[in-house]
Amino acid sequence: MSTFYITTPIYYVNAEPHLGHAYSTIVADVLNRFHLLRGEKTFFLTGTDEHGDKIVKAAEAAGESPADYVDRISAMFRRLWPKLNISHSHFIRTTDPAHKAVVQAILTRVKDRGDIYFSEYEGLYCYGCERFYTERELVDGKCPDHQTPPEVIREANYFFRMSRYQDWLRDHIERNPGFIRPERYRNEVLSFLKEPLEDLCISRPKSRLEWGIPLPFDDRFVTYVWFDALINYISALDYPDGEGFKTFWPAAQHIIAKDILKPHGIYWPCMLKSAGIEPYRHLNVHGYWIIDKGKMSKSLGNVVKPLDMVDRYGLDAFRYFLMREMVFGLDSDFSEEGFIARVNADLANDLGNLVSRSATMVNKFFDGRYPDTQGPTLPIDDTLKAHALGLVGRYTAYMLEPAFHKALMAVWEVINQVNKYIDETAPWVLAKSDRGRLGTVIAHILETLRIVSGLLWPFMPESAEKIQAQLGLPRSGRDLTLSDLEGWDKKGLFSAIRTGPALFPRIEARKQTPAAASKPAKKDEPLPEKPVISYEDFEKVDLRVGTILTAEAIPKSKKLLKLTVDAGGERTVVAGIKEHYSPEDLPGKQVLIVANLAPATLMGVESQGMILAASDENGLHILLPERPKKPGTRVK
Ligand code: ME8
Ligand code: MG
Repeated sequence: MSTFYITTPIYYVNAEPHLGHAYSTIVADVLNRFHLLRGEKTFFLTGTDEHGDKIVKAAEAAGESPADYVDRISAMFRRLWPKLNISHSHFIRTTDPAHKAVVQAILTRVKDRGDIYFSEYEGLYCYGCERFYTERELVDGKCPDHQTPPEVIREANYFFRMSRYQDWLRDHIERNPGFIRPERYRNEVLSFLKEPLEDLCISRPKSRLEWGIPLPFDDRFVTYVWFDALINYISALDYPDGEGFKTFWPAAQHIIAKDILKPHGIYWPCMLKSAGIEPYRHLNVHGYWIIDKGKMSKSLGNVVKPLDMVDRYGLDAFRYFLMREMVFGLDSDFSEEGFIARVNADLANDLGNLVSRSATMVNKFFDGRYPDTQGPTLPIDDTLKAHALGLVGRYTAYMLEPAFHKALMAVWEVINQVNKYIDETAPWVLAKSDRGRLGTVIAHILETLRIVSGLLWPFMPESAEKIQAQLGLPRSGRDLTLSDLEGWDKKGLFSAIRTGPALFPRIEARKQTPAAASKPAKKDEPLPEKPVISYEDFEKVDLRVGTILTAEAIPKSKKLLKLTVDAGGERTVVAGIKEHYSPEDLPGKQVLIVANLAPATLMGVESQGMILAASDENGLHILLPERPKKPGTRVK
């Protein structure tokens, strides 16, 4: 059985988890689930990095002891992940006694190899990065990551003879093109390796810093950040004798952002080489989430908290957006408007709508069962089938790259194709004329949905499982493998096919579309289910009778009229009825209006409410009371 080992950075506990941490961890979760789907044995590691100067400083600032402080912040990370449906196998802390023992064992090994020496050193140090910088790496004399000038530090310390492994590393990277990916980061490391590599300072005198792991060969010193932190990737597997290490090393893949490329692309492979351990398989490097054109930072007050997004918009919408929006390796902008637009278009419209219209049709036309009769197929069916069956291979290739946005785009091509297929084959028309053909069409829709839902699982586990449950599929989520998705005409797999509440309710931004202007359903297409609401929810809607006082066209708009309505007080209402009513016919007519809808600006006009209308093949008509009512009368 193939094995797969995925890690995230272990995050510093000097700050609370934010969007960037959530992204890396969701990426690792998606990959882990993808490899489970491939039927592999996987191990997924995340955790926290708890030693060093800046943790001590953060603890002081919080008025806590380092030990209490790291317990508290580490717990925030650990408690967050299940809420994001992160399914890690183990959560490691660098303060775990077992981890400390492995760090000391590695230090001893590397020292025995003659790769650790004692020396006086002066250099430029960035506390944010917890490492020395060379002049060449600085931008305008500052750390490029923290935009702060480094401090000059002069101290006697222990050093790791990294320079010894420079040629080996360059050679290894050149012979293994996928070792560091995407390529831009591989090139960055290779260009770094053109210059002589300096040795790595790995200790701090205890007189200055106690919050670390004592060196096994000199207890006046503690080991320092990177030599401690990087080793988590093997201490978590119980190196050297643990089953985990035997099973999962070196099938290791690391996920990091570009800020910690050098420690992972250079220090870590050299450390492994010196300790006589095979290098990891892939280092996968992503870019930054950028907010308001800059990095997220506490001082700028633009930190996006993952749970806020999840509470507001739903977990799977959040996971989907992150994975779809960012091109793995490049920076990406995060904005709430962008989020809402993408989620509404891809999830509420394309996917949510597809599931709900499909389930509705199977219920209406086949009593919730897979069609028992099918006619001969037409080219349009064969095209859909070929595309859906080929999707698994295309998706897999992108996931292995990894290029998540491309994998999702490939899935969405098929989703959009089925939506178009439904529009073109119009099953609701076939229902009246050709049951065999109807069976073929519905079967093709269901087979495609079966494949699509399987491939969505790594990204949106909960929604994928809901779709699989609605389709009555026997295997879902973790029990499913890619091989289950192969083949067609799997009637036996489907049991009762159910309709359900909307998977992805549309997010209403401040700008709303009046109901009368929203996309009408295809003629005769059965209406998808809406969620059941309580009487209390219904009662929140303030429905009133109004009388139209004036009506005028909104220039440049095809659909919108601006109305003044007396609904117990005058108000402006924008209505999408221009194609059906002339403004001069409206004054004096009564209407029903939703009076407590949040105001929305449409084509520059603020609308304070919405009028009710109904649309079918005979056109669109506004709804009005059977007998005139006093303006402002409540509708019950
Ligand atoms: O560097 N966009 O921890 P750290 C995308 N403890 N990802 C981001 C991000 C952003 N704006 N901000 C942070 C450390 N990240 C060390 C790691 S590993 C042996 C030790 C993510 O808390 C991204 O994964 O500073 C980045 O590499 C990591 O958080 C840095 O986390
Ligand atoms: Mg950092």
